[in-house]
Amino acid sequence: MVTIAVTTEGEGEPRVAISPETVKRYAALGATVRVQAGAGKRSRFSDEQLAAQGATIAQTRAETLQGADFLLTVRRPSPDDIKALKPGAIVASILAPYDDKPGLDALVATGASLMAMEFMPRITRAQSMDVLSSQANLAGYKAVVDAAAMFGQAVPMMMTAAGTVPAAKVFVMGVGVAGLQAIATARRLGAIVSATDVRPATKEQVASLGAKFIAVEDEEFKQAQTAAGYAKPMSAEYQKKQAELVANHIKTQDIVITTALIPGRPAPKLITTAMIESMKPGSVIVDLAAERGGNTELTEPDKVIERNGVAIAGPLNLAGEVPVNASALYAKNLFTFVETMFDKKAKALAINWDDEVIKGTLVAKDGRIVHPNLLPKA
Ligand code: NAI
Repeated sequence: MVTIAVTTEGEGEPRVAISPETVKRYAALGATVRVQAGAGKRSRFSDEQLAAQGATIAQTRAETLQGADFLLTVRRPSPDDIKALKPGAIVASILAPYDDKPGLDALVATGASLMAMEFMPRITRAQSMDVLSSQANLAGYKAVVDAAAMFGQAVPMMMTAAGTVPAAKVFVMGVGVAGLQAIATARRLGAIVSATDVRPATKEQVASLGAKFIAVEDEEFKQAQTAAGYAKPMSAEYQKKQAELVANHIKTQDIVITTALIPGRPAPKLITTAMIESMKPGSVIVDLAAERGGNTELTEPDKVIERNGVAIAGPLNLAGEVPVNASALYAKNLFTFVETMFDKKAKALAINWDDEVIKGTLVAKDGRIVHPNLLPKA
């Protein structure tokens, strides 16, 4: 019988890699799920709820891990955790494979098959396994809700007997998964919303959500999307034109949500200190790119700072601030992925190492790094 272990996360991570729904589904695959007591607590999945769906609740970490075939976590686990598993076990996690190389090497040395969920290929079949999307969507929502809470004014227009309250103006920079949800959320709150991106495909998406699209639409813009659907780094000339456009627009905005990222690079600096200083006191910026250096010149990761009355927040784990939903979606992403490694009739493991979703996520196997993104370039 295949055993799947789920441990408690560190103090700073409220999410968990399992949900009552996925426990049940693993059981239907013929697997046993062993959950460390209290692991689901911060996502409001009690031990009783998980046990009711068929999970075995283990009282200690050692008992949870002992000889398991799989380890599912949110954050990168420790080498000691992996050593307690069956030799050559499978670990699926948001591994942050570009961070802390010595730490990664220690995991690789365990001989486990390490799978980085953030490397999931963006193909139609893998959409339901895409943790970047499931978590970014929630982050985009929470960014707007937090910004509205920090903004000392109302967001929707209200016509009252005592006078009219104007609608707040919200500007979303970067219209990927998080940006789209930020636009939708700000619209639901009644804001006047505008958005910008360098990928032409976003123009129609912005309009379809009822927001105004603002961008430098030159020849470079028309080529800014890679085959994988991501943005390319823009030329200095484009960045200058973009900065002029943003400088004029941002002065009139109340709330700015930034989400602009380019895979494998520091976040583009889209908002200068001078632009922040041109904004009205009381305005709010929430920078979702804080983890990768931030989209503003003043962002400090995990802090809210103030400049001339403008608040700039650099949250690092917004999805983790809605852990009930974030864990449910993450656990489902993991299940859909792990399910591909099972032979449903035989109720046994049957891994196709050539499958695109396995090849795409597999960072290391048998003590060696195997992922092309992490191997020295030939
Ligand atoms: P991301 O997190 O890498 O970047 C966020 C946004 O920032 C992107 O829209 C990007 O174009 C934008 N950006 C980069 N540089 C910028 C600049 N200088 N100024 C303004 N904006 C800038 O992107 P995310 O959210 O991961 O989505 C990327 C694409 O992948 C989207 O088109 C999304 O719809 C697509 N996607 C496809 C999936 C699938 O087919 N399985 C799953 C999820 C997303």
